[in-house]
Amino acid sequence: MNPALANTLTIDGQVIPFTQGQTIMDAALAAGIYIPHLCHKPGLTPHGSCKLCTVDIEGRNVSACTYPASAGMQVANNTPALNEVRKTLIQMLFVEGNHLCPTCDKTGDCTLQALGYHLGMLDGHFPPFYPLREVDASHPDFILDRDRCIMCALCVRASQEVDGKNVFALSGRGANNHVIVNSPSGKLGDSDLTQDDLAAHICPVGAILPKNQGHEVPIGRRTFDLHTVAESDLAVALMKTEHHDD
Ligand code: SF4
Ligand code: FES
Repeated sequence: MNPALANTLTIDGQVIPFTQGQTIMDAALAAGIYIPHLCHKPGLTPHGSCKLCTVDIEGRNVSACTYPASAGMQVANNTPALNEVRKTLIQMLFVEGNHLCPTCDKTGDCTLQALGYHLGMLDGHFPPFYPLREVDASHPDFILDRDRCIMCALCVRASQEVDGKNVFALSGRGANNHVIVNSPSGKLGDSDLTQDDLAAHICPVGAILPKNQGHEVPIGRRTFDLHTVAESDLAVALMKTEHHDD
């Protein structure tokens, strides 16, 4: 191995550095390279469930958010074939839940919707499931609409790893997989979720929403009205790195 490549890998022809223990996603974000992702958030343990971050390493598909970076690795990321697979994954997530953007308070701030635009998705392609899952409006400040949950487990990890609580969990397998609330009644209003919790604000879709502020930020001035999902996620990763370096 060329010693100059000892701590570098290549993504789409661009040579970037990495440090021991970083995943391909960590190294890419630190170098300002966007790899589409949905269940990943810098600072939380990777979950590896959505597969949006699938990249190609010399003919083998791996999840960039869980796969360790290694010296001399040749990674393909922004290719038409991989983006087509990612678009199909987004279409499947759209039809599996009730993601009716024009009626959802999260529109313009929703990462699923933003990824649909990023990947050129024009329709759901597959027949919609129209699931009927329990909506929990028992909490004074937040509503949990399970019909929009994409099972990313960001709320689960944020509650455990940042908030020091255990408010959410995923339960069931396959089509029965759903988010549950750890409280005596199973209701959000009976849990110890508070306004300050990261778990209350991390949902990438409209499954956990604050009450009483639906249109405080008007449509047209929301996150993804002003920035692409790539710009937004790279900025979040940069903030996390700077905070970590302080
Ligand atoms: S409620 Fe939101 S954050 Fe939690 S698993 Fe579902 S989509 Fe992810
Ligand atoms: S972002 Fe890597 S699997 Fe979801």
